[in-house]
Amino acid sequence: MRVLVACECSGRVRDAFTRRGHDAWSCDLLPSNEPGQHIQGDALDILNDGWDLMVAHPPCRFLSRAGARHTYRGGVLNETRVTSGIRARAFFDRMLHAPIPRVAVENPTPMRLFALPEHTQAIEPYQFGHPYSKRTLLWLRGLPELKPTNVLESHEPYLRSNTGEGRRAGQQSSPGVVQTASEASVTFEGIAEAMAEQWGGPA
Ligand SMILES: C[S@@+](CC[C@H](N)C(=O)[O-])C[C@H]1O[C@@H](n2cnc3c(N)ncnc32)[C@H](O)[C@@H]1O
Repeated sequence: MRVLVACECSGRVRDAFTRRGHDAWSCDLLPSNEPGQHIQGDALDILNDGWDLMVAHPPCRFLSRAGARHTYRGGVLNETRVTSGIRARAFFDRMLHAPIPRVAVENPTPMRLFALPEHTQAIEPYQFGHPYSKRTLLWLRGLPELKPTNVLESHEPYLRSNTGEGRRAGQQSSPGVVQTASEASVTFEGIAEAMAEQWGGPA
């Protein structure tokens, strides 16, 4: 199959499909961090290039519920962030409705403000062999839900949360395992393997 992994510079999902004999390409504005078939550029420009399947990881910075405190700082909507969120939502829609028969779009829980369509399923790294929680949503078209491959009972939050005012106010907080946004956005190996194994079918 010809597989496009849009908005990926880690090569994780691309390489999982490649290992199974597929003609898999990643595409990102940034170069690939790992050697492999990669198109450096705008994924929107190549959606019509005859792909059989696409896995897309569109940017979530302005859509994610985790960023809501910046969007509503002091109870007031930040116009610049709202405009960026509206643009991010339009990009997300282009991915989900791309002219490709099988599509999976991955993102964290979004803010209600941007009214994303209902997701198909929620997955966690601890369902795929990693001892972490990081709720991730999948919007699927033409693909079955991803089945957990190795569920771990014990896990800790992958992302830092509520370490400032919330913590001081006695709310639940977590120091997280990763500290930077780019580390946090890399797809887990176990999830990449499950995608290629369960969605790849015969090469
Ligand atoms: C949330 S990260 C996803 C990272 C991915 N999970 C990985 O393992 O590499 C979003 C990525 O989208 C890329 N991006 C943003 N706009 C893009 C566009 N128009 N075309 C292609 N990639 C884009 C960014 O450079 C960034 O690497």
